[in-house]
Amino acid sequence: MAAADRGTDPRPVIAALRDGQGLDAKGAELIASGLADGGLSDAQAGAFAMAVLTRGLSVAGRTALTRAMRDSGDVMRWDLPGPVVDKHSTGGVGDVVSLVLAPLLAACGVFVPMISGRGLGHTGGTLDKLEAIPGYRCDLSEAEFRKVVGNVGCAIVSASADLAPADRRLYAIRDEAACVESIDLITASILSKKLAAGLDALVLDVKSGSGAFLGGADQAESLAQSLVSTANAAGCRSSALITDMDQPLARAAGNAVEVHAAIACLRGGSSALRDLVLALAAEALRLAGQDDTSQRTTRALDDGTAAEIFGRMVAAQGGPAGLLDAPDSYLQSAPVIRPIPAPEGFVSRIDTTALGQAVIGLGGGRLRAGQGIDHRVGFSDLRRIGEPTEGQLGLVHAASDEAAEGAIASVQAAYALSDAASPAGSLIRAHVAPEAAAAQIDHRR
Ligand code: URA
Repeated sequence: MAAADRGTDPRPVIAALRDGQGLDAKGAELIASGLADGGLSDAQAGAFAMAVLTRGLSVAGRTALTRAMRDSGDVMRWDLPGPVVDKHSTGGVGDVVSLVLAPLLAACGVFVPMISGRGLGHTGGTLDKLEAIPGYRCDLSEAEFRKVVGNVGCAIVSASADLAPADRRLYAIRDEAACVESIDLITASILSKKLAAGLDALVLDVKSGSGAFLGGADQAESLAQSLVSTANAAGCRSSALITDMDQPLARAAGNAVEVHAAIACLRGGSSALRDLVLALAAEALRLAGQDDTSQRTTRALDDGTAAEIFGRMVAAQGGPAGLLDAPDSYLQSAPVIRPIPAPEGFVSRIDTTALGQAVIGLGGGRLRAGQGIDHRVGFSDLRRIGEPTEGQLGLVHAASDEAAEGAIASVQAAYALSDAASPAGSLIRAHVAPEAAAAQIDHRR
């Protein structure tokens, strides 16, 4: 049946996909509007998701779906004296990049309206970390969000119900219909929300390794290619870095402990977190059309400008004005803090997913959406691959001795040691540029 004859019946769209005929813009609009307004039944949404998973979409089909899902709710427009830029990470453990990167980019003259999420599975969530700061509000109204971005240069908030509502419904149905793994659907899901924020440029941090959402190097490469080609085709300049998630990025995993790590990074000193923040900042600024960025980003981090903007953002979103000067006075600490004992040796491998699950076990993450979390708990001072243990793997921060015991056993099981130092993999494993992704693989089967 020709697209013009479809009317409002989604079945021909689903049947065409099922039969390998792809998805056009009209079909994508019918699916996305039906997801948002209830015109598509759960059975039809599940069949659609399964047809995409089994048949795959072309770049054009994926772009059509992304655009239609973006347009299923509000799409923000900005009128600011600089480019509007953001970052998306596919999620990891100890990945507290957003708290440092958003103010750093703002310090370099771009605007960052960052719409973030909560912890998902074993991976931590930016909003959960920020809510470890007393008073910090993620649920700003649109007017408040615009005001903070305009005045401070960046804001980090939760998505409103009006943002890409088609994705919210499809995401839940994908979970029930065993269709979470589709790279086409993951791409449309991530980008529909990000593009609804009205971005000029988006840098993507696609994680690869034992703590990544899609662990294998091939999968990370496919996802990065898919995200970059689709974002650019949908009108948002984008590129990706594929980065190491074979170990936590920061030396901390949890919520308050990661805010401490972010503040330490904003205060200076070398770390893997700093290296990745600087690489992503340079990439984002290049996408936004700025040249010679690496000196500017380093200076803005080292001279305290980014730290000052972080402090202003926290205060503008309801947090304490003095957080940066006295984090210990504001961030609650756990009642039990103990070393995680280990034999002498060198760290050779970390099951990073298991480490993330150990944070959940301590109460620092959730097993079900909507569950409360304990912001005080987690791990700090974690040893990295290639480092000597010197008798311990790090510190556990727990609500009780019993919880600490369980977490210590989990971390000990997650770490593998060797007698000699083995080299860690590189932090940045690949760069996926728009031009390379334009000629990328087609997921259509
Ligand atoms: N994050 C999203 O927003 N959507 C997905 O499908 C996977 C990760």
